[in-house]
Amino acid sequence: MKQINIGLIGAGIVGGGVVKNLTRNSDLIAERLGIRLNLKRVCDKDESKTKGLPVPASVITPDAQRVLGDPDTHVIIELVGGTGFAKTVILDALSRGKVVVTANKALLAHHGEEIFAAATKHNTNIFYEASVCGGIPIIKALREGFVANHFPLIYGIVNGTCNYILSRMTAEGKDFNDVLAEAQKLGYAEADPTLDIEGGDSAHKATILASLAHGFWTGYDNTYVEGIKHVSQFDIQIARELGYTIKLLAIIKGGDAQPVEVRVHPTLIPHSHVLASVNGVFNAVAVRGDVVGDTMFYGRGAGADATSSAVISDLADAALNYKFGSIQRVPAFVAHRLNARLRTIDEVESRYYLRLTVADESGVIAKVATVLAEAGISIASVLQREAPEPKAPNSVPLIFMLHTAKDAAVRSAVEKIDRLPVIKQKTVVIRVESFE
Ligand code: HSE
Repeated sequence: MKQINIGLIGAGIVGGGVVKNLTRNSDLIAERLGIRLNLKRVCDKDESKTKGLPVPASVITPDAQRVLGDPDTHVIIELVGGTGFAKTVILDALSRGKVVVTANKALLAHHGEEIFAAATKHNTNIFYEASVCGGIPIIKALREGFVANHFPLIYGIVNGTCNYILSRMTAEGKDFNDVLAEAQKLGYAEADPTLDIEGGDSAHKATILASLAHGFWTGYDNTYVEGIKHVSQFDIQIARELGYTIKLLAIIKGGDAQPVEVRVHPTLIPHSHVLASVNGVFNAVAVRGDVVGDTMFYGRGAGADATSSAVISDLADAALNYKFGSIQRVPAFVAHRLNARLRTIDEVESRYYLRLTVADESGVIAKVATVLAEAGISIASVLQREAPEPKAPNSVPLIFMLHTAKDAAVRSAVEKIDRLPVIKQKTVVIRVESFE
């Protein structure tokens, strides 16, 4: 049987998973493809990472140049991570005409245009299924399964760490910092959780999905991002009373004749929405196509096995392309949308949850309602709690649910509201979506 030679650079958790699962299911994969995936080299400069892997010692090397410089290695898997050495590895491999497989969402979100252009220039290809939502085949679905569609709406839970934290806060009534500390102890959150909890990781994935779905490079800097650090237990409880669950969502709307908006932020969604039941470390992505209608993908967005499943599916595509002599069949990224425009967050329309902390005295609701009315913003409901807010004992919480309004209008109205003397703390603003 014909074989394709593979060099793996970066043998951490996902790299180790790729070695284990490629070895375990090697015969099955070869039977399915009619070509064998031969792991020729495994490289990590840290020998403790490669020790114990189920490959002969002769396969292992600490020297990336030995892998990149081997003319018989057809595919390089980059699992180094980050945007430094990983970028050098990928550009070097592409310049030698090798096919690249990567899980590196940060690198693609920040430098995707340059990397995809390098693949085209050198008549080769780069695959990145594992970069978005681990084991969920969302890249392949958008690029191939849904090739007949425009995508007016893509949204979902794309970060397992944040979903784990919010799920436990919701189920157990605990505060953010306590759940984060426990998640770190259990290994569900990184020692430095910044990229996850501040929304950067979700924004990387949203940028890749938006660009692929809409056929132009939307750019990481144009993705609006808010993380989950400011989501309090109190807001989770009030949202629950009102019929909503709080999730960190990536939302990509628009396209075709409309500008595209790409945003990541905590969102109130109705309890009855299927995403409200996606809990723990799981990811789920909903895709609405103008031909296919509504679809939903659910699975593990991280971890050695789930992510290596996606890496191996990319290897299979690379191997089949090689077998049939068509390396660029299904190119990595095709810019096909002319005159594409982005909608800034100012122009985004949403519904809103506002939690004000107010002095409990006459006329407060009227003052706040006047500011909203002057901004042309319509109130959907008002809720005042009799009991003082736990963290602001001399004031009471006052919740406004707003009808659809422009983001800039809401932010400017909230700034005015927060300057009223009756307001005792900065107002909490969370967007509300139903995706009907
Ligand atoms: N840290 C990510 C998550 C997985 O928690 O989902 C890798 O993107």
